[in-house]
Amino acid sequence: MSRRGTAPRQPGVGLAWGKAFGRGLLRWFTRHGRDLPWRRTRDPYRILVSEMMLQQTQVPRVLAYYPRFLRRYPTVEALAAAPPARVREAWDGLGYYARAHNLQAAAQAVVRERGGRFPRTREEAERLPGVGRYTSGALLAFAFEEPVPALDTNGTRVLSRLFLARRSSSPSRTAARLETLAASLIPAGEAWAFNQALMDFGALVCTARAPRCDACPFRSRCRAYARWQRRGRSAPGRQP
Ligand code: ADE
Repeated sequence: MSRRGTAPRQPGVGLAWGKAFGRGLLRWFTRHGRDLPWRRTRDPYRILVSEMMLQQTQVPRVLAYYPRFLRRYPTVEALAAAPPARVREAWDGLGYYARAHNLQAAAQAVVRERGGRFPRTREEAERLPGVGRYTSGALLAFAFEEPVPALDTNGTRVLSRLFLARRSSSPSRTAARLETLAASLIPAGEAWAFNQALMDFGALVCTARAPRCDACPFRSRCRAYARWQRRGRSAPGRQP
């Protein structure tokens, strides 16, 4: 599916600004994006391992565990066949052990029910244990370059600040609006880079507390920044 010519449907986000944002974010990522080991692979198994680890754990800690886990379980088949107690042991130190259990159950489903092939649609991906909306998007965009958003808390915050005039009282409606918006912003053929970039931009510039608006290339178009300015705050201290 091509996204060329798809007008962003979010009110207030014109086609030109939507395109400029997508391109600008990719430019920013080329200069400032982090070189992380799970960004050097398109293997869906390795991507799923990283995303499950990153669900509740900070990047620096995952960096210490990810290569070791993959040395022990280099393929989805190896993980599927492993004794669960050994998998738990390999996860020791990452916490939230339900994730290790789900990861192995997902590997077993891929091997036993799908002949070793990972899902290529969100609906199928979300049937795997432990795979929710964010992780299904990450798997499809990062492994298969499918033009879908992977909105974690970072991405959600960035898009809310930049584009949302107001919050809906319904969190699920806001999430759905942001997904539609994010999908419309992905430059053609760039789902991997766009989603990785959005995460890094949220982690490094548009942070939850004390965002670095002075380093933001989108500041002049940012709705949250304009709100902060109207309230007389030059340096926003907290999420609006
Ligand atoms: N957090 C969740 N997924 C991530 C990724 N792919 N890169 C950096 N941080 C992440």
